[in-house]
Amino acid sequence: MSTEEKLKTLEEMNRLAELGGGEERIAKQHAAGRKTARERIQDMLDKETFVELDKFVTHRTTDFGMEQQKYLGDGMITGYGKIDGRLVYIFAQDFTVFGGSMSRANADKVVKVMDMAMRMGAPIIGLNDSGGARIQEGVESLGGYADIFYRNVMSSGVIPQISAILGPCAGGAVYSPAITDFIFMVKDSSYMFVTGPDVIKTVTHEEVSKEDLGGAMTHNSRSGVAHFVAEDDEQAMMMIRELVGFLPSNNMEDAPVHPCLDPVNRRDEHLQDVVPDDPNKPYDMKEIITTVADDRNFFEVQPFFAPNIITGFIRLGGHSIGVVANQPQLLAGVLNIDASVKAARFVRFCDSFNIPILTLVDVPGFLPGTEQEFGGIIRHGAKLLYAYAEATVPKVTLITRKAYGGAYDVMSSKHIGADVNYAYPTAEIAVMGPEGAVNILYRKLNDDERRQAVDDYKTKFATPYKAASLGYIDEIIHPRDSRFKLIQAFEMTRNKSKHNPVKKHGNIPL
Ligand code: HXC
Repeated sequence: MSTEEKLKTLEEMNRLAELGGGEERIAKQHAAGRKTARERIQDMLDKETFVELDKFVTHRTTDFGMEQQKYLGDGMITGYGKIDGRLVYIFAQDFTVFGGSMSRANADKVVKVMDMAMRMGAPIIGLNDSGGARIQEGVESLGGYADIFYRNVMSSGVIPQISAILGPCAGGAVYSPAITDFIFMVKDSSYMFVTGPDVIKTVTHEEVSKEDLGGAMTHNSRSGVAHFVAEDDEQAMMMIRELVGFLPSNNMEDAPVHPCLDPVNRRDEHLQDVVPDDPNKPYDMKEIITTVADDRNFFEVQPFFAPNIITGFIRLGGHSIGVVANQPQLLAGVLNIDASVKAARFVRFCDSFNIPILTLVDVPGFLPGTEQEFGGIIRHGAKLLYAYAEATVPKVTLITRKAYGGAYDVMSSKHIGADVNYAYPTAEIAVMGPEGAVNILYRKLNDDERRQAVDDYKTKFATPYKAASLGYIDEIIHPRDSRFKLIQAFEMTRNKSKHNPVKKHGNIPL
């Protein structure tokens, strides 16, 4: 064979590999409103940075006449590239080849990039679109999944792991994404379930649609399995790029610092009356978050799940900050099971990856009721307390209004390790609200006496001054100065060095 012919062979093999399962199946994928694995990778990475590995790998199965059906790449595209000039590793299931199903050979490709991502200390991003285990391969496929799960666990807290669900994701295949840090889903085209509607009907006689059972909104708003929802594949890829911009490449680095043109000492007069006079009147905590953030940019995480607590990323003076904030607009910002679990996982993510945490507090306490108690609010609320207490990253807390009871302690109080604790003059820091307190302390008062007692309690306890007199609050600040004060506090903590006692690992109440 001449050199020219050899070069042609390479070109032809590349062409075949890039064709995946063929034109017809690509057209079917497009008709379903989905992009192909290669198109998704192109959308996500900086132009012309993708380097593909193992393009000519094929499966090694001979059962079910599989030796007659081989596709170069075997339905999994793996490699590395850049997002905003920073290295990331990637694997993407190609639904046009055996429905993107997991074979031993393509699991080996994933294992290879996961190991490389760990060695080089860069994020790994998985684009899932698959019928699950390759049925023709049986236990070899299951072994491949387990090899990936194992690496997901070993990588947890070392490199950021991001999953996008862009088609079906069924059976045990959901557990790899579940171990990763963030899951993106796409409206009306992505599904996650352990058992599908047909199995459910047989076993429990329940009838449920694919969408209701495991669609994007189900997992974004009800189960809390997913963190982000996109309108289409392309938007999902853009959102992943944005998320990566807030994160360090690994747990030994800090997040990248972005140039900040927004003045650090910007004053915002409208914050002066953002907290209403009436303590029972709701307001939107996101107004405070976006006002203090660089360029008003807030990248919210899990906006549809437990919206009574807000989690997400902002930048302050160019530095990435994880925000946890009670949302008085929903359920009065109360802490319930879902809110506690949502915030605890977010706090642990930030702590794993050296991202300082800003906590904005307006919380009336934990949600009372049998549903919460029977559901284990004690165990779940403890997760948040645990997560904050073990977090060694810089922690700055600002109490805007209510900080009552156990929730005061939990929401990054000085006592569990916050570095700087601010309060607005509107803060109320006490064991409970005035009415509740008076009802318990003075059961036999008439209406006038009760009103007087409530007023006395408000004057004495429903303020930040008692806490400030004890040093539990470092400074009471003017709301309009919030941005500057927060930036100042995080700047002061930049070289924080704190280590928890050496141990194998703690025993968070899971
Ligand atoms: C091999 C598969 C496959 C699989 C789909 N295909 N799933 N090949 N193994 N698991 C192939 C089909 O034969 C078809 O091949 C092509 O992919 C597209 O599939 P269609 O059914 O035509 O597509 P669609 O109608 O869109 O339906 C997609 C689907 C369905 C919902 C994913 O294919 C399906 O239900 N597949 C089986 C899902 C499943 O039960 N998987 C096992 C889960 S248990 P051709 O040649 O016609 O294009 C599991 C255990 C993991 O995954 C355990 C980890 C611990």
